Parts: sequence; structure tokens; C-alpha cells
Amino acid sequence: MLTSHRSGSHQDIRQFLESVIREDSKQGLFKVHRGVFTDREILRLEQELIFQHSWLYLGHNSEVARPNDFITRKVAGHPLLLTRDRDGKLHAYFNTCSHRGAMVCREPKGQRRAFYCSYHGWAYNDLGHLIDMPGRDSMAPGLIENGEMNLKEVPRLAEHHGFIFVCFDPEIPSLETYLAEAGDVLKLMSEHGPNGMEIVGGTHEYGLGANWKLIQENSADAYHTSTTHASYLEYVNARDGARPKVDPAVSAGWARDLGNGHAIIESEGAMPWGRPSARWVAGWGEAARAEIDEIREELIQRLGEKRGRFIALGDRNTLIFPNLVVNDTLAITVRTFYPADVDRVDVTGWALAPVGESASSRDRRMRNFVEFFGPAGFATPDDVEMLELCQEGYRNQTAYEWNDISRGMLKEVPAKSDELQMRVFWRQWQNMMLRNQED
Ligand code: FES
Ligand SMILES: [Fe+2]
Repeated sequence: MLTSHRSGSHQDIRQFLESVIREDSKQGLFKVHRGVFTDREILRLEQELIFQHSWLYLGHNSEVARPNDFITRKVAGHPLLLTRDRDGKLHAYFNTCSHRGAMVCREPKGQRRAFYCSYHGWAYNDLGHLIDMPGRDSMAPGLIENGEMNLKEVPRLAEHHGFIFVCFDPEIPSLETYLAEAGDVLKLMSEHGPNGMEIVGGTHEYGLGANWKLIQENSADAYHTSTTHASYLEYVNARDGARPKVDPAVSAGWARDLGNGHAIIESEGAMPWGRPSARWVAGWGEAARAEIDEIREELIQRLGEKRGRFIALGDRNTLIFPNLVVNDTLAITVRTFYPADVDRVDVTGWALAPVGESASSRDRRMRNFVEFFGPAGFATPDDVEMLELCQEGYRNQTAYEWNDISRGMLKEVPAKSDELQMRVFWRQWQNMMLRNQED
């Protein structure tokens, strides 16, 4: 038995990490030890070895579209402040005052040329420069001028087709290199509308009692759709007109390894729901049909037959290592999640939509989005329950140590309902956990 009763020594953890994945490509077997979901030392190492050395999603360009727009957000435990300066350049600051540490910005978003710390009133401009403070005369000479007390910028900030990422490690390769083929998927997401894309509506924030990696597994798991989401599918079929039910035994679509731990599952036209851009279903009515045909035609005109049709008629769930999900199915959701504890995860989700789409199209999109992805929708509560059941089941680790993630392993092109995308995640996870450790 691969024991979780480890002594906690470095060597011991290294041995554990080396053996937590059992892969036999001849037999088509891939097993992950359940201790990775329950061991607090593993969580500590993930925070140190994965989250501090990966490019992490911070926000979307549209959320800071104008000069002096800002958003605040927590990324891997760091409270950050993202703002666009007077010249349009983006800055990601650690949201902490250089005086005695209070967060200099408390609001989730807004537009502001300067940030005033509410504790003692130190003021910073859009370039992060400390510009003033109450009782300046009593301060050491040069305290403002020498720049040492300016807001600190996150070591790396980069944007890819509207998606803004940060990284706390100054050494790792560029965002473009890191994203590998996932870069093209994000580009494809940016092409849904002729005028670009925007984050709309509010933010979904919810927590659940499961390990964070279970969200990554679940977010591109077509195998669970017809069981976990049976009631949603029944509802969609009843409301939108009968389309074939998704059968997990049917190998619809395919899965692709996008490199560096990123993966995607895709299909074209196989899923039963309507896509606002642009796959019509009967429940939307004849009036919507003409508009959806128009949206599809615009995509084809602008991007060519193949890419235009693929965007319009396809469905895709994308996993960007370690914790970004961009799912383009019945709406587009962008989702990140961070561990609050080994068995607790905090999830944040946003809807991404074409800038300037019609009110009727936006309405179809947001209904789909809230109904499926909303924390009180038809699907997310089902997922939450399943992941909490998994976490609870892991209490039986002495009886059952291994998860099986072998599905489709012997196929040349695994289907959407196979588990290639999870194996891609786990290999990268193990690589980083071993590679970044000091010997
Ligand atoms: S902590 Fe910010 S002004 Fe004192
Ligand atoms: Fe689900």
C-alpha cells in the first residue's frame, strides 16, 4: 500500500510523488493515488511548486478596457490590483500598501486615477508611484522620491487575445510558449464576434467541499454528462425539441493534448443544446433561426468555411494548466479555482460574449449560461454534489487507494467521453511537483 502515513521527510514525499501515478501504456491503464486529494503536505507543495511557477489567469481585457479602469482579484492567495494606466498600459500590482500593509483598493472594480489607502491615507497614482501622504513633513526625507515605497508589480504580466495572465516566477518561459496549442484555442474564443469579446454580467463565486483538482477533472469530462446531468438533458430536450441524447458509450468528438498540461475535448454538432453563436434549436423559435443563421454566416464570411463552421457548430471544453477552464458549449464560461484547504475549493466563473451582439442573442446566451453554469442552475449543483461525493469517498483510502483514469487510453484518437484530457493534466502535475523541488 502506498501509504499516506508518511514521516513527512523530503525523501519520503519525493518517493510518494514518484509513485502516485501508475501508467501502463501497453495495458492501457492509468491510475492516480487518492492521497493526492487528501494529503495536506501535497497541497502545501502544490501551492509552492505549481501555483508559484505557472501563468495564472487574472482577468479579461474588456474588464479594464478604458484608461484608469481597475479590477481587484485574488490569484493563488495574492490579492492583486489590475489597472490600465493613463497611456493604456496594463499593470498588475500586489494589492498591499507599502506603509503597513493594508490593501490599497477594496472595491472589486471601478475607474480611478489614484488609489488611497484607507488606513493612514497614503496615495498612489496609476503608475503605482507613491505620491502623497498625510503629515508628509514628519516622514524621512526622500521617502516618496526614491521610489522604494511604490506599489510592487507582479513579476510577469502578459495578454493573449484579451486573456490577461500573471506569473510570480520571473524565470519561466513566456506566456505564448507556456500556452502552447492552447494559445490557438484562446484566439478562437476571441473570434466569436466581429467586434471582439467581453466579460458580461456579474461573477459567479461559490465554494465546495472537494479538492481543487477535481474541478479541473470535472470541467472537461464528457463521460459524466448523461448521468450527472440527466435532469438538465431531459429539460433541454423537452424545452428545445428532441435531439439525440448524449450517450457516454457513443464516442462523439475527440480529445486533444495541447501541450504543457493543457487539453481540450471537442465535437461538432453532437450535443443537444443550442449555441447562441451559432447552433439553432427548435425551442428558440423560428424568429431566432434567421438570426442564428446570420451569426453563422458572418463567422464563415470572416473566418472561412472551416473555422467559421467549427466555431458556430462545435462545442469545446478547454483545460489550461493548472486552473483555468474555458468552456465554449451552450455559452462561454471562463472559470478559475483555488484550494482553500485540501478538501475545499473556491470557484469563480464569468460569461464571455461577443461585443455588440443583439439583445435577443445576449438573452439566449445568458439564459443558457445561468441555467447551466450558475451555482443555482441545473448543472453546477449536480457537479458540486458529485465532487463532494468523491471527496467523501476518499475517506475509504485504506480500502481503495487508486482512481482509474484509463478510459480510451488504447485508442489512437480518444473520444470526448474518454479521459485523455485528465491524463494530460496529471502528467504535468507530477512533472512540476518533482521538477520544481530542490534536491
Ligand atoms: S497601511 Fe496604508 S497608509 Fe498605513
Ligand atoms: Fe458537469
